[in-house]
Amino acid sequence: MKVPCRMVAEILGLLAEHVEPGISTFELDAIAYAETLKRKAKAAFKGYCNYPSALCCSPNDQVVHGMPSKEPLKSGDILSLDFGILYDDFYGDAAITLPVGDVSAETKRLLQATEESLIAGISQAIPGNRLFDVSHAIQSHVEQRGFSVVRDFVGHGIGRNLHEDPQIPNYGQPGTGIRLKPGMVLAIEPMINEKSFAVKVLEDGWTVVTCDGGLSAHFEHTVAVTENGPEILTRINRA
Ligand code: MF3
Ligand code: CO
Repeated sequence: MKVPCRMVAEILGLLAEHVEPGISTFELDAIAYAETLKRKAKAAFKGYCNYPSALCCSPNDQVVHGMPSKEPLKSGDILSLDFGILYDDFYGDAAITLPVGDVSAETKRLLQATEESLIAGISQAIPGNRLFDVSHAIQSHVEQRGFSVVRDFVGHGIGRNLHEDPQIPNYGQPGTGIRLKPGMVLAIEPMINEKSFAVKVLEDGWTVVTCDGGLSAHFEHTVAVTENGPEILTRINRA
């Protein structure tokens, strides 16, 4: 799984360099797809339940599963990019949320809290811990900062399938859930809203947005549980 995960990280790192006012998510999707083919890999999301694109692009109040659009991004926007690859029978999956141009201090605080909550969750992904220790670490980090955890979408096991058991909510009771064992690989993906956690799916059947129009951020890593602790397989090396 290190190979597809490395590819996901490389491509997200590359996309991050292109995110600036004026570019469209349609162009970002084209870059992601071209880079996937260059590596002789498959874009994991394209065709999955008829999803049309390689990349999920969710700006501003879009939570997840946004579709590429020709509308140019503008300064002050935020953009979540979620991307997956299938290579040699195994999947990798990761997401980042980026500021576009200059964003407000409050927006930066949301992005930082969400990314930190992912790291807090990952640090609990150790043998002997329970699954919802991960969930609880994410929830408490986020709620202490006044943000809210989306309930309707969750992380997941990953391996020979994009979505495997267990489901990984980003909220829960510590000390409960299945026991974590070396060899498990988890896609941990907090989706965090500025205001209420309520979300709805638009008529296109895919785009998930906040009900109150508040911003939403999303960070995801594919993480292996090992004897030596959590190993982030999709770590992004950025300039
Ligand atoms: N990373 C997301 C997830 O694991 C996106 C996959 S949905 C898709 O749920 F349909 F676009 F593939
Ligand atoms: Co995922």
